[in-house]
Amino acid sequence: MRHQFVRISGFVMFKLLLGCFLLIAGGGWAFNHGQDLVDFQTYETTFNKTYASTSARNFANYYFIYNRNQVAQHNAQADRNRTSYREAVNQFSDIRLIQFAALLPKAVSTVSSAASDPPTTQTAAASYDIITDFGLTVTVEDQGVNCSSSWAYATAKAVEILNAVQTANPLPSSLSAQQLLDCAGMGSGCSTQTPLAALNYLTQLTDAYLYPEVDYPNNNTLKTPGMCQPPSSVSVGVKLASYSAVADNDDTAVMRYVSNGFPVIVEYNPATFGFMQYSSGVYVQETKALTNPKSSQFLVVVGYDHDVDSNLDYWRCLNSFGETWGEEGYIRIVRRSNQPIAKNAFFPSALA
Ligand SMILES: *[C@@H]1O[C@H](CO)[C@@H](O)[C@H](O)[C@H]1NC(C)=O
Ligand SMILES: *[C@@H]1O[C@H](CO)[C@@H](O)[C@H](O)[C@H]1NC(C)=O
Ligand SMILES: *[C@@H]1O[C@H](CO)[C@@H](O)[C@H](O)[C@H]1NC(C)=O
Ligand SMILES: *[C@@H]1O[C@H](CO)[C@@H](O)[C@H](O)[C@H]1NC(C)=O
Repeated sequence: MRHQFVRISGFVMFKLLLGCFLLIAGGGWAFNHGQDLVDFQTYETTFNKTYASTSARNFANYYFIYNRNQVAQHNAQADRNRTSYREAVNQFSDIRLIQFAALLPKAVSTVSSAASDPPTTQTAAASYDIITDFGLTVTVEDQGVNCSSSWAYATAKAVEILNAVQTANPLPSSLSAQQLLDCAGMGSGCSTQTPLAALNYLTQLTDAYLYPEVDYPNNNTLKTPGMCQPPSSVSVGVKLASYSAVADNDDTAVMRYVSNGFPVIVEYNPATFGFMQYSSGVYVQETKALTNPKSSQFLVVVGYDHDVDSNLDYWRCLNSFGETWGEEGYIRIVRRSNQPIAKNAFFPSALA
């Protein structure tokens, strides 16, 4: 009898819960008015959004409200010092996390016999930052949402930063990621991510100078026909002589190279809500994201230090989501031995 009562009560409870869920879900769909709509219109204007159809816009509106609320909840935790980083609405806030992950497909595995022996380096400093220590002004690039090209952007930036350091140029001009997409991407550069292809192209072809972005503009799509056309204007490019590899998980080596002025390209799993909406602070990846990642984003490690606010060590990495994403285009990622940053890691090691 008692058992029966519990069962009925459980069922009633279930119906009640279902009713609540439908109410909430229904409320979610009835978003198309009031402050939510105003917020979405502001979002559309701020991020220059246009949608192909009314339906596409309604989906975008729905996901935007959902993501915006998630961001607000996360930041309420940050206000109470329960998380070390903050989130913000950005160019990805009108899509679902699963769509974001699909935009950034997993990199092909990279093993290279063409990598050179690493340069001789001094032991790592306790903290270092190539950008701020040299006072470089480096343009943050935006890879857009239609071409997964972080491999090309990260490689171009690493070469640009190394060249700036070695030629004592605090105001380097952006080097062309598009050239790497077109010339090293082999026609699939928007979906097959491999910095190794870019580094091999730059070091193995004698005439492969990496041109400035002004002469070989970034387009964020694969340009066919007319792929890999050197700029028509007279242009001075940067010639890379060699690159080196860092063994997976060898964060000590990453520190040493960065500390000696070599920006290091690393593969990172971006498929978390926290990364998608990251805004500031020291990012700590959710542990559930650590297994079997299906997405990749290549970042350039430019520095490392200790954050007093969160009491965490971090890596400072340059991303290619534009300068409105993260900390003016950069992300600080927690630096700890059980979450190593060194993965598919390479760095340009000598200029010609
Ligand atoms: C939106 O477009 C304007 C004008 O082209 C531009 O100045 C602004 O930077 C763009 N905003 C974003 C977030 O792309
Ligand atoms: C991205 O692709 C979509 C659909 O393929 C297209 O409608 C949109 O114009 C593209 N955006 C850019 C910036 O190329
Ligand atoms: C990208 O290249 C295509 C093909 O050459 C061209 O039609 C398009 O206007 C370019 N887009 C940008 C943003 O330069
Ligand atoms: C916030 O949390 C961190 C880590 O637990 C701690 O070291 C720090 O002192 C806290 N800050 C404040 C203002 O409570």
